Amino acid sequence: MAVISAFRGLILAMILALAASTVGLAQKKASKAPDPARGKEVFQRCAVCHSATTDEKKVGPSLRGLYAKVKLANGKKPTDQAVRARINDGGDGMPAFKDVLSEDEKADLLAYLKTL
Ligand code: HEC
Repeated sequence: MAVISAFRGLILAMILALAASTVGLAQKKASKAPDPARGKEVFQRCAVCHSATTDEKKVGPSLRGLYAKVKLANGKKPTDQAVRARINDGGDGMPAFKDVLSEDEKADLLAYLKTL
């Protein structure tokens, strides 16, 4: 009897461990997917110079409707690649964010900019 209940306990522990690791994996995956809500937090670093809610020009142009624009100020189409390059390189009054933001933060930021 004692052997059986010890065995049961072992099985239960194994099931719990498996469940925990599956949850852990799911969370890891979720935090990797670009998240506009996190991107909005990252945008606080941009908000001094860019409006997200009005067309007002601050230090830089408003980013409202950025992805709906025919082209960016530099003449490029507003693709992820072009916007990411703009964020990485800065220039013309904008600081470079290449080493300031992580790749995940940039992905979140792009997801947020698409909602504007
Ligand atoms: C110190 C002020 C400043 C900060 C901070 C700043 N920018 Fe800029 N940004 C500018 C200026 C000025 C321009 C316009 C440059 C030009 O005329 O080409 C610009 C241009 C841009 C453009 C191109 C817009 C267009 O229509 O072509 C994008 C996209 C952009 N910034 C995104 C960002 C993001 C995202 C952040 C935050 C990570 C950020 N900027 C932070 C000043 C800033």
